Amino acid sequence: MARETWATRIGFILAAVGSAVGLGNIWRFPFQTGQEGGAAFLLVYLLFVVAIGFPAILVEFVIGRRTNLNAVGSLRELGGGAWRYVGWLFVVTGFVILSYYSVVAGWFARYLVVGVTDGFTVTTEAEAAELFGIVSTGLDSLVFHAIFMALVIGIVAMGVRRGIELAVKVMVPAIILFLIGLAAYGTTLDGAGAAYAYYLSPDFGVVVDNWTSLLPAAAGQAFFTLSLGMGVMITYASYLGEDRNLATDAGVIVFLDTAIAVLVGFVVFPFIFAAGTDPGQIAVGAIFFSLTQAFATLPFGTLLGIVFFGVVTIAALSSAISILEVLVSYLIDEHPIDRLPATLGAGGAIFLLGVPVTLDLVFLDLLDGLADGVLLVLGALILVVFVGWVIPDVGLSELGQGITSVDPWDDIWLWMVRLPIVIVLVVALALGALDYLEFLRVDFAAWLGS
Ligand code: PFF
Repeated sequence: MARETWATRIGFILAAVGSAVGLGNIWRFPFQTGQEGGAAFLLVYLLFVVAIGFPAILVEFVIGRRTNLNAVGSLRELGGGAWRYVGWLFVVTGFVILSYYSVVAGWFARYLVVGVTDGFTVTTEAEAAELFGIVSTGLDSLVFHAIFMALVIGIVAMGVRRGIELAVKVMVPAIILFLIGLAAYGTTLDGAGAAYAYYLSPDFGVVVDNWTSLLPAAAGQAFFTLSLGMGVMITYASYLGEDRNLATDAGVIVFLDTAIAVLVGFVVFPFIFAAGTDPGQIAVGAIFFSLTQAFATLPFGTLLGIVFFGVVTIAALSSAISILEVLVSYLIDEHPIDRLPATLGAGGAIFLLGVPVTLDLVFLDLLDGLADGVLLVLGALILVVFVGWVIPDVGLSELGQGITSVDPWDDIWLWMVRLPIVIVLVVALALGALDYLEFLRVDFAAWLGS
């Protein structure tokens, strides 16, 4: 059967934006910003997105579009030799990320259902924590993880055009419209002024004091949010024709993803300040505590909560499909398997891998720390070295396709990819790996011992 392609240019852009915009923007970004000191983190993150994320997304685009192959096959074809095995890293990363991503997405879906059936009524931190406990561990978590994976499998099984492209054309505009509405509402809240000040005035002392944790956190976040380092953008670009200007498309995608992350800050921080919670405390679960408390106290809170949790669920869905597509496209390109069994098989295995996360949150840290701190950065490093040093001519010629005039930026791109980005990634990888080992040695060992 002929390999599928996107039906429209906007379909490709929306699919890539749908992949980029997800829990990374709405769940991870606020709590990372909160933990790493607010505006200082925001600034470093923005710098990384422009200087590293944008060139790195182009690296994946040129590989995918040149070969019209999946993430494993494209490296084999372009690199040969040992490169044929490198793509396996992406397959592993995809399994790891989607397994916990789906569990967390299931929590948001569960909160959405809480809002619809009971409304948001918990006002004390203790009650909010209790609700989070019910949602995040045990049967509820397992059931919603299953429902979420079933939706992901359903969309991916329909194929590139009829499944993914159609879904993102509805989902992405809905996400943007609802977030703008929520941010507009946020301006009317009491704590809004203090929230914006916290979010927007950087304390450079924080950058200097905390650079060892801030740097890998900001780099990891930049890669995670742009879905880089695991072949999503290779796979999506492999369904493209040669007539597009990749740099323009990448610019639109990076801009929209970043604008949406920044916009989320204008939603979450006013809500949290209005509810009187400390933004430095909004860790993994606490963001749920503060938000549910906020929705219980704010005017029209339940409605707001339903919209908010609905938006997050949709955003997570449009990202999750891109991860599963990496695996499915690998399976169908490289093996004599049809899309439906490939989707069911990969999706089912991911569901199983996620089950421990529904039982104990320590597995969330175990998988997220590995994926975000190590695997994505390693994957991105391998890809920039590959395009920058192994196949630079292919990279440049592919970048030039679909562009009518000669573009001086191409050389700057190659230069960025070859050196500055490699250096930042090596440092981020070293720090991220140390951080993760520390987690294994201290927190995880303590958990094992308990
Ligand atoms: N970019 C997605 C988000 O910000 O939620 C997460 C993600 C999707 C990460 C796909 C990695 C990936 F390959």
